[in-house]
Amino acid sequence: MSDTSHCQTPRQIVAELDRFIVGQNAAKRAVAIAVRNRWRRQQLDEEMRREVAPKNILMIGPTGVGKTEIARRLARLTSAPFIKVEASKYTEVGYYGRDVESMVRELVESAMLIVRDQEQAAVEDQAKERAESQLLEILAPFPTVSEANDDAVELKERHARTREKIRAMLLAGEMEERTVEITVEQKTSPMMLTNMGGDQMDFDLQGLFEKVMPRNTSQREMTVAEARKILFEEACEALISSEKVSARAIELAENVGIVFLDEIDKVVATDGGRGADVSRQGVQRDLLPIVEGTTVQTKYGYVKTDHILFVAAGAFHKVSPSDLMPELQGRFPIRVELTDLTKQDFVRILTEPRGSLTKQYAALMDAEGVKVTFTPDAIDALAGYAFEVNQKSQNIGARRLYTIMERLLEELSFESPDMKMGDVTINPAYVEERLDTLSRDEDLSQFIL
Ligand SMILES: Nc1ncnc2c1ncn2[C@@H]1O[C@H](COP(=O)(O)OP(=O)(O)OP(=O)(O)O)[C@@H](O)[C@H]1O
Ligand SMILES: [Mg+2]
Repeated sequence: MSDTSHCQTPRQIVAELDRFIVGQNAAKRAVAIAVRNRWRRQQLDEEMRREVAPKNILMIGPTGVGKTEIARRLARLTSAPFIKVEASKYTEVGYYGRDVESMVRELVESAMLIVRDQEQAAVEDQAKERAESQLLEILAPFPTVSEANDDAVELKERHARTREKIRAMLLAGEMEERTVEITVEQKTSPMMLTNMGGDQMDFDLQGLFEKVMPRNTSQREMTVAEARKILFEEACEALISSEKVSARAIELAENVGIVFLDEIDKVVATDGGRGADVSRQGVQRDLLPIVEGTTVQTKYGYVKTDHILFVAAGAFHKVSPSDLMPELQGRFPIRVELTDLTKQDFVRILTEPRGSLTKQYAALMDAEGVKVTFTPDAIDALAGYAFEVNQKSQNIGARRLYTIMERLLEELSFESPDMKMGDVTINPAYVEERLDTLSRDEDLSQFIL
């Protein structure tokens, strides 16, 4: 699993993150180091490797300033299995006391997707070839004995010629609409069973069921194009060893998996351990073994959680990290604070990242043949409004930019398909006209912006 993607240096990782996230350098550095440390650990010998525990990260900062975004981007650029869970969800009825382990199962599912993709890519060419020759077999079967006259050699040659002709036609895409009949395997899915058991019970049932049930096949008519798809899928499945996939997925989840534990501050007791607090404290207690390292059963096999990286995040408005259980505090030794975003940050968020909001809207309008440009002073004004509304009503960080932009461009979004000529320049006057009264009216802005 010496994935090259995990060899990025902290500096490179931060540079990548910089392309999407404005500011928050301390947090970027911390996650970059954590990722590099896992690669470092993989270079060690067995014995040492076992000793090195991941240094989990606690991100502290107000809402909408990039906590989740950093974790999400990080996972994507390291192609590590990644899941995001709200710690508070485990306090809900039906979760409490039961299923904190489900996060590990989710992580393995995420790893399965990655490994399956990789495996699929590895066998793709071979599977295509197989599917193609099976198609050929179906379209130009060898004549049955009854049709055969006594000259076997001639028959063979004739068949070979037909095959070549059909192969050429297939290649030229001339056979796509032709109807063929193929044998398809029907998967019997133990629907009733999984429904009954919820996610606690479904570990091995699926696998067990598939082994016990007789293979069901049926003949179906379809076009060559459809048949090719099915044959390709079947070939992929036959070429990929599901045991190998499971094993690799587990290895990946165990060694480079990232669990993002959002709203960790919501599982801190606030009134001395009564009522809802009991379940909050309970969640912390349930989390502890997973974060410290335990073994969880999943339907793909056992997963050791010792080296999974946990990134916890919370606003910590009313409580502080020191209100967490001491053991849990110790497991999140790296603390990073994310700062409130300034108006200047908003300017940058609107314009700099790949896929920033202004770029997104411009691209959407471009699809209508309307070319939208934002002047720098218009961006400045937008950032100003976002900042102001955040101050006056609730501070929701960069999320404010979404509502502001939607409002600004509502009219254009509606009208653009009917606009014949296509240039719109968004200047400060345009911005002011659409946002000024709104942002001044506190009641209105609470609803709309
Ligand atoms: N520093 C930033 N740079 C670029 N975009 C940002 C930044 N902070 C936030 N955003 C944008 O705002 C959105 C919300 O941010 P994010 O989900 O990271 O918030 P959060 O800090 O996790 O907040 P919460 O505590 O409410 O979960 C993101 O999808 C992203 O587009
Ligand atoms: Mg978040």
